[in-house]
Amino acid sequence: AHPPWPSYRGYHEYSFAHATMSHRLPTILGKAIEDVVKTLSDEYDEERITDLTACIERMEDLMEDLQGNSKLRPIIDDGEGDIPLWNKEIAKYFRGKDFMNAPWLFAEAYKYRRLHECFSMSKHWKSYDVFFRQKCETFSRSGDAVFELSTRFAEPFLADSKLSEEEQLSAKKLLFLELTQVALWGNATDLSLLIDMTEDDIKNLQSTGGDHLAATEKNILHNNMPEVWDLVSSPKFGGDKNGGRIDIVMDNAGFELFCDMIYADFLLVSGLASEVRFHGKRFAWFVSDVTAPDFSWIVNQMIHGHLFPNASETDIASLRQLGLRWQTYIKEKRWIYQAHPFWVTGWTYWDLKNECPDLWIDLCESDLVIFKGDLNHRKLTYDCHAPPDTPFDVAIGPLGSEPGAPPVLTLRTIKSDVVVGIPASVAQKLDEEDSGWRISAKYAVVSLSPGHAD
Ligand code: F6P
Ligand code: MG
Repeated sequence: AHPPWPSYRGYHEYSFAHATMSHRLPTILGKAIEDVVKTLSDEYDEERITDLTACIERMEDLMEDLQGNSKLRPIIDDGEGDIPLWNKEIAKYFRGKDFMNAPWLFAEAYKYRRLHECFSMSKHWKSYDVFFRQKCETFSRSGDAVFELSTRFAEPFLADSKLSEEEQLSAKKLLFLELTQVALWGNATDLSLLIDMTEDDIKNLQSTGGDHLAATEKNILHNNMPEVWDLVSSPKFGGDKNGGRIDIVMDNAGFELFCDMIYADFLLVSGLASEVRFHGKRFAWFVSDVTAPDFSWIVNQMIHGHLFPNASETDIASLRQLGLRWQTYIKEKRWIYQAHPFWVTGWTYWDLKNECPDLWIDLCESDLVIFKGDLNHRKLTYDCHAPPDTPFDVAIGPLGSEPGAPPVLTLRTIKSDVVVGIPASVAQKLDEEDSGWRISAKYAVVSLSPGHAD
């Protein structure tokens, strides 16, 4: 299944596809090579050194292919679960295509899979993550926003029993709306766009105070938050379960993940959710996306780490209290980490049902699937030239219309061309008045497709 509008491609000079394919990706790959060179210089074992040197050579070949705009070749069978999905898509649609004339979404994802191949072919470095250092460093520079949230939410949300039932519900609603925004704007700080951020840049992007959120709400160009609240607070939500199953298809590690966990914590303690499933990536993906090690890292660092040497004891204690609670959720399987191979392929979610029936069936069991971030949004909408006033549930194709489709929510700060669900006049006005609006992450969408219970 595919939409009637053409995909963005690298040679479309008017689109962010062009800047990404010709400049951003080579820069990101160059930094990745620097990271491996650094690791190499810390290694003492000869076999591991020669093994890693071969990884660097493969990365240099990839750089040549990328900069020379080579044709896309199949991925070498390294025995990983996503190989059949990749090579089927290449054989079916992209044989003979190159980095610039293949659809941007596919070509960009393909680059990250080729980068993984550089390591999966090795003996000792199969799970090496070239972006791990960057991810950790950026989180350790996010102290202000992290402690603002941790000190507020270390004690779990508890409705004030002195209030009437109605007042309790409206308190819960207010917090739900606030934390939905926290999870949304947490997405503004992905590392692929902000390679050289200063501490102040990070602070600006991460301020989470109430006034700040009230001001940013007007930048949510399509805002279904009221409908999302109606869904999750309805007595029918979750059927017979005590609260619904909520799935979060995650985006970035570090600060965004921390915000998602604050949100997921609230969803559990408020009783809106009975379990939260976090969907991550099986290897380094689009620089900062969450992998299994990133997921464990953050919780363990919160409990045991020394990431914030200048923080007060109260701050550190709040972080530890949260980390311990989250660790319990993981042990009790109320928080579940999953990493299906489909999430690290070039397929869009228009193809999810056909190409990946097991994942489709799993997601149909969910009471709400939340997709975080720009890349997920591009995959939901096929990353094509859909007119801005295309309704969201139409723009996401089968995921919005097939029988059994679950409710789908996108929490996305806008960092690339495709925008749907907003009046054409709004898009036109922004095009005229704020030409960078589609890539600045200053604007956002919170769009809900209600799903099709069968
Ligand atoms: O480079 C393509 C892109 O999807 C951009 O649109 C965005 O800059 C980045 O990758 C990832 O953003 P996110 O982490 O929000 O998916
Ligand atoms: Mg990302």
